[in-house]
Amino acid sequence: MVRLTGTHATFTRDAVSAWLEGLRDRDDRSDWAILRSDDGTHLGEVVLNDVDDDNLSAGFRIMLGSPRWFGSGYGTEATRAVLGHAFDTLGLHRVELEVFAFNPRAQRAYEKAGFVVEGRRRDALLWDGEWFDAIVMGCLSNVEA
Ligand SMILES: CC(C)(COP(=O)(O)OP(=O)(O)OC[C@H]1O[C@@H](n2cnc3c(N)ncnc32)[C@H](O)[C@@H]1OP(=O)(O)O)[C@@H](O)C(=O)NCCC(=O)NCCS
Repeated sequence: MVRLTGTHATFTRDAVSAWLEGLRDRDDRSDWAILRSDDGTHLGEVVLNDVDDDNLSAGFRIMLGSPRWFGSGYGTEATRAVLGHAFDTLGLHRVELEVFAFNPRAQRAYEKAGFVVEGRRRDALLWDGEWFDAIVMGCLSNVEA
């Protein structure tokens, strides 16, 4: 999971709690828990970050908390919901993300939700002594999925 998200840092429970506490005062991002509507099971998190009011854009990230939840459509559904919020509620024009080239599942989920590939950052991640590219994807408010 840390490799899929390119996370080099490690976190303590206290650090995570402090981070979550600080989120309520932020106006440059929105963080949501993804809950399964049937039974309330917590599946993961999804985030709009780096909200740029001048250019009406934001970044996007998502993570389901366990491989048990992968491949059932949850990621695509959550991505579509957050894009709807970004465009229809916040009035943003552009949402962008990066996904590592070794993560075709995520790339496919993003494509289904309306993102298109815009470019490639070569050797963006150094993991266990090996370089990996990051794919840049974007979605615009006026382009249908
Ligand atoms: C990325 C993530 C949010 C996607 O959510 P998900 O619920 O697993 O994805 P979905 O089921 O909605 O869609 C996955 C799609 O990828 C396809 N897929 C799965 N493995 C694939 C592979 N190896 N190659 C190509 N496509 C693949 C599935 O078939 C499905 O497409 P389809 O509906 O056309 O068949 C989730 O897997 C996750 O949190 N992964 C770990 C963290 C992560 O990678 N975060 C993103 C970092 S950029």
